[in-house]
Amino acid sequence: MAESNANELMEKLVSLCKRRGFIFPSSEIYGGINGFWDYGPLGVELKRHIKNAWWEDMVLRRDDVVGIDSSIIMNPKVWEASGHLVSFNDPLVDCRGCKARFRADKVFTVVCFVQQEALFSTGVEADNEEQAILGAVEKANSKTRRFLVKARDPKLQPKWEVFRADKLPKGSEALCPLCGQGLTDARKFNMMFKTFVGAMEDSSSAAYLRPETAQGIFCNFRNVLDTTRLKIPFGIAQIGKSFRNEINPRNYTFRSREFEQIEIEFFCHPTEADKWYEYWRDQRFQWYVGLGLRSDRLRLRDHQEEELAHYCKACADVEYAFPFGIAELEGIANRTDFDLTQHQKSSGRDMTYFDDESKERYIPYVIEPSGGVDRAALAFLCEAYCEDTAPDEHGNPQPRTVMKLHPRLAPIKAAVFPLVKKDGMPEVALKIHQALRAAGLASFYDEKGAVGRRYRRQDEAGTPFCFTVDGQTLQDQSVTVRDRDSLVQVRIAANQVVEYVQQRIR
Ligand code: GAP
Repeated sequence: MAESNANELMEKLVSLCKRRGFIFPSSEIYGGINGFWDYGPLGVELKRHIKNAWWEDMVLRRDDVVGIDSSIIMNPKVWEASGHLVSFNDPLVDCRGCKARFRADKVFTVVCFVQQEALFSTGVEADNEEQAILGAVEKANSKTRRFLVKARDPKLQPKWEVFRADKLPKGSEALCPLCGQGLTDARKFNMMFKTFVGAMEDSSSAAYLRPETAQGIFCNFRNVLDTTRLKIPFGIAQIGKSFRNEINPRNYTFRSREFEQIEIEFFCHPTEADKWYEYWRDQRFQWYVGLGLRSDRLRLRDHQEEELAHYCKACADVEYAFPFGIAELEGIANRTDFDLTQHQKSSGRDMTYFDDESKERYIPYVIEPSGGVDRAALAFLCEAYCEDTAPDEHGNPQPRTVMKLHPRLAPIKAAVFPLVKKDGMPEVALKIHQALRAAGLASFYDEKGAVGRRYRRQDEAGTPFCFTVDGQTLQDQSVTVRDRDSLVQVRIAANQVVEYVQQRIR
């Protein structure tokens, strides 16, 4: 997608999310705070449905995964053992000119050569090399006519050299994406938020907000094993907030400083780890497709050897083509026996598993599907945003903005309207509305204004079904149901409305 279209789409989405109550900047009345977001009445429902869908599909509908809810602040020794205190660092660079600060692994210097001549070099902030080149092309197009002329000549293929600011070849300098001046060398910055527990603020009371939910699971491995009858292979799932002091939060909620994770640690025999890794890679990809993300916008990207953390045997990212570029939604990793071994060494507690049948004792391997609720919500919102036309009450096509969210995720499942505010129609409509609510289905009752306008308001909120009570209802107890996406209207019996919605949101 061209950068200007992508920016425009993001601007429209951000504006709709604010206007309709999906997402607000945190503490907005005080000017906000970078990297923190609040979810409004529609947003909180969207997030709740994502979390419920994940919990239902990954925990409740399986025999081999159980859940836990561990504390956000843990004994700081956890983060020593896991390696976070020493190595949960981002490389940080500053611009010598404008003083802006960047994550060095997200700043690229791109040089464009045409026939060995360096035509153009620029700094670009991006998630990967592919995006960096696209960003450089956009910048070049707007700044260098000479570049345009040469690069468009089909005989003169441009060649790109791309350097990450923390992996520069000797003698070269990284450039600031904002002002083009030089960047400092990279230095380490620990991303954990620090706090103090109790009345004293000294090193003995220092503690950290968890940067991932995973360690709460590892620390409870023994407890879960001892209190359930689970046998390996099995998984422990957790949904919860995590915190990272990101150097440069950006792309709306995509990179935030406070976010929610959905993580499973799946424990298996070391010889079965490859098989389970493949299984979870496929499962997690399909989960997003099943909830409406188009598979041509999703991809599974296997990490290259050099990208893998030292304890990781394999890792793949589920990536989504956001308007601002292709970026990670979830990572699936084979973490080997690293975490349990580390905790066994540090705590002195036994983290082995004893297999009754084979009489073998071993530390299990772990396959970890680790996703983010906020990133999933953003992907579903981007996918859902659509502009088309819908007929008004006179049958004339009118432009509309519609959020085509999967019915399972839609914040409001149904809206109920009386066509007019008289002749007993509001009473019948209210009865249907109450029946929907009593069945646990979020319903919205609206009797104000032209019915076309009422439909349009629900389209923006992503409500999949609108039921209208009209003159005919009073004679044959049928109502119209209008489908948000196809705009098709059919009549069904008023006493079938609850069942109609229940069947379609599964
Ligand atoms: N336990 C492994 C782990 O935490 P990660 O790749 O660092 O791995 C997992 O994070 C997921 O958490 C990511 O795929 C993403 O969905 C979400 N996530 C990580 N950092 C985030 C941030 N700053 N803002 C929003 N979501 C984030």
